[in-house]
Amino acid sequence: MTDRPYVILGVSASMDGRISLGPNRTLMDIDERDDVLGTREEWEAFYSGLQEKHDIDVFMEGSNMLVKETAELRELEPHQGDEEELYKDFLPDEVVHRPGRTGWLAVVDGRGRVRGGYTGEEDKPMLHLVSQGVPPEYLSFLRRSGIPYIMAGENRVDLELALKKMRDKLNAKAVLTSSGGRLSGALLKKGLLDEVHIRFNPVIIGGFDTPILFASPELEENEWPTELEFVEGEIMDTGHITVRYRVKR
Ligand SMILES: NC(=O)c1ccc[n+]([C@@H]2O[C@H](COP(=O)([O-])OP(=O)(O)OC[C@H]3O[C@@H](n4cnc5c(N)ncnc54)[C@H](OP(=O)(O)O)[C@@H]3O)[C@@H](O)[C@H]2O)c1
Repeated sequence: MTDRPYVILGVSASMDGRISLGPNRTLMDIDERDDVLGTREEWEAFYSGLQEKHDIDVFMEGSNMLVKETAELRELEPHQGDEEELYKDFLPDEVVHRPGRTGWLAVVDGRGRVRGGYTGEEDKPMLHLVSQGVPPEYLSFLRRSGIPYIMAGENRVDLELALKKMRDKLNAKAVLTSSGGRLSGALLKKGLLDEVHIRFNPVIIGGFDTPILFASPELEENEWPTELEFVEGEIMDTGHITVRYRVKR
């Protein structure tokens, strides 16, 4: 029995493993060319397929999906008062036990860059996963905005601890991440990915800096590639290929 939720990756990629049309693009930059990685309808079908297979409690994204790496951060009101309390988990009852809540939209934000104040959907509120390295005014802003957060890690989010806390404190059993390549790479490197679903689209994007499926430090001499066990797959007449693999331990 695992003490963390089951973690599933669901992404759409080009045949050369690119997950975006270029570097430093967020959800806001999406234009009609992004349809090559899936139209809205295709995404919805892909995700509802995943939801049918797994009972998903948490949908988790990387911060780069929402904020550019180079973005100037919104200035926030300085925090007045005791800081110690701020650096503890903030899981207010009125959000955790909100009637009709079915899950969470989580973002890994270990540097405190996601400052838009988005509270999520009625049935799926936002949950920030943060580290001790974020400034107090950011945590104070989240508290004032009623946005729950889980504290895990020193300067980056300790992904394993964050997942364990999601299980212990929120009873999350399955997490679906459609993260960008760096978050997927970090999860894979730490042995925190259980299943990988990829929808390959019949296009090649190329690029030296365009985000790829898994971006992480190079393998050490004695490190072995992560092996996968094939579960199922489908080749469509359109040339799209969907594959589902379980990560071997
Ligand atoms: N086609 C698809 O299915 C798909 C899906 C999702 C995203 N995308 C695209 O992917 C691009 C973003 O990809 P990306 O690789 O630049 O960004 P990303 O996956 O969002 O990677 C950055 C995230 O990973 C976290 N992270 C990275 N290494 C970590 C580690 N060792 N420990 C803990 N946390 C770690 C970062 O945390 P900090 O913020 O704390 O640094 C940040 O939240 C966007 O263009 C987006 O549109 C495509």
